[in-house]
Amino acid sequence: MKAIFLIKNGSAQQAFETREIPIPTPTSGQVLIKVDAFGLNFADVMARNGMYKDAPPIPCVLGYDVAGTVEKIGEEVTHLKVGNRVTAMTRFGGYAEYAITDARATAIIPETIDAATATALTTQYCTAYFSAAEMVNLHPGNKVLIHSGAGGVGTALIQFAKYKQCEIFSTAGSEEKIKYLKQLGVHHPINYQTHDFEKEVKKITNEKGLDVIFDAVGGKSVKKGFRSLAAGGRIICYGASDMTNKNLWGKLKAAIGFGFYHPVMLMMPSKAMIGVNMLSVADQHPQILQRCLTEVVKLTASGVFKPTVGKVFEASAIADAHEYLEKRKSMGKVAIQW
Ligand SMILES: NC(=O)c1ccc[n+]([C@@H]2O[C@H](COP(=O)([O-])OP(=O)(O)OC[C@H]3O[C@@H](n4cnc5c(N)ncnc54)[C@H](OP(=O)(O)O)[C@@H]3O)[C@@H](O)[C@H]2O)c1
Repeated sequence: MKAIFLIKNGSAQQAFETREIPIPTPTSGQVLIKVDAFGLNFADVMARNGMYKDAPPIPCVLGYDVAGTVEKIGEEVTHLKVGNRVTAMTRFGGYAEYAITDARATAIIPETIDAATATALTTQYCTAYFSAAEMVNLHPGNKVLIHSGAGGVGTALIQFAKYKQCEIFSTAGSEEKIKYLKQLGVHHPINYQTHDFEKEVKKITNEKGLDVIFDAVGGKSVKKGFRSLAAGGRIICYGASDMTNKNLWGKLKAAIGFGFYHPVMLMMPSKAMIGVNMLSVADQHPQILQRCLTEVVKLTASGVFKPTVGKVFEASAIADAHEYLEKRKSMGKVAIQW
C-alpha cells in the first residue's frame, strides 16, 4: 500500500515522500480500514514544523482522521463488520491507503455522509463536542466566544453553540472569514485584524462579559479572554496557534502572555480555566472518545452538525494541502482523497 511519510521537518514541499509498505494486520481490539479520504489537522502542520511533541520521530506517517471501509477486524471487536463504512480517529498513520486503529475510535457512518466530510467528524468535531458538551454545559442565552471560528473545530463549536441557542461571538482574521461566520449564524463576528476582541466584547455586553470562551490561539488571547469572563465564566484552552512559526523569543513571549493564575484568582471572581487535549483523553479513556464520536455522528445525521469541507486535495498534492492550511486559507475541513 502507499503511505505518505514525513521525512523532513520544515517546508511542506520538501517534507513528504510516498512509499510502498506492507498493509498492516489488526491485532485484538483493532480494525483495518481501507481509506477513501483522510483529514488534515492544524496539529499536522505543527508536527511537520517539528513543534508537536506527541508526533512520532521522523520518518513517520501523520494523520488523525480517516474515512473508508472496514477491511479486517481483530479479535474481540463486536460492533463492526467487514464492509462497514466508517470514520475513525487514528493515532497517526492516517496518511495511507490502509490505516489501523482501536475499534473504539471508529463509528459507522450513513451513506449520506461522504468520505471527505466524514474526516471532519473525528478529531475536529469530537474535540468540539467533548469541550462544549462534556467539559462545559452550554445553556440557552449563554454568551459564548469562539476564537478562530472559521477553522474546523471553530465551525463545529459554532454549530453546537447555535444548537444550544447561545449568543455567539466569534473571531477570524479576514473579511472573507467574517462572511463565513455570518453564514454560520454567528451573532457578533469580530475581525481581530481590525478590532480588539476584548474591547468589542465589553462594548457589546455592556461590560457584563462572557459565559464561555473556546480558545485555541493561546498567549495573550487567553489573558484577555480571562478578563472578559463574567462570574461563573469558563475559558476552555485547547490550542496555542499563536506559538507557531515563531522563534524561541517569540514563543517565550507567547508563553508568558498566557498569564499566571493562582486558584484564589479563579475562586474570588468565580471563573474557571479548563484544558482539553483530545489525544490524552482518547489514550486514557477510549470509551469517552467512543461516546463523543457516536454523539457526533448522530448530531450530523440529524443535521445539527454540518461539517464544511473547505477543500479536497488529491494525495499527490499533500504538500499543497499543508501550505493551504498553514497559510490560513482554509475554512472548515481540509481533506485528502486517494
Ligand atoms: N486540544 C485538542 O485536542 C485539539 C484538537 C484539535 C485541534 N486543536 C487545536 O485547535 C486549533 C484549530 O484546529 P483546526 O484543526 O480546527 O485548525 P484549522 O481548521 O486549520 O483552523 C485553525 C485556525 O487558526 C487560526 N490561526 C491562528 N493562528 C494561526 C497560525 N499561526 N497559523 C495558522 N492558523 C492560525 C486561523 O484562523 P484565522 O485566520 O481566523 O486566524 C485558522 O483558520 C489548532 O490550534 C489545533 O492545534 C486542539
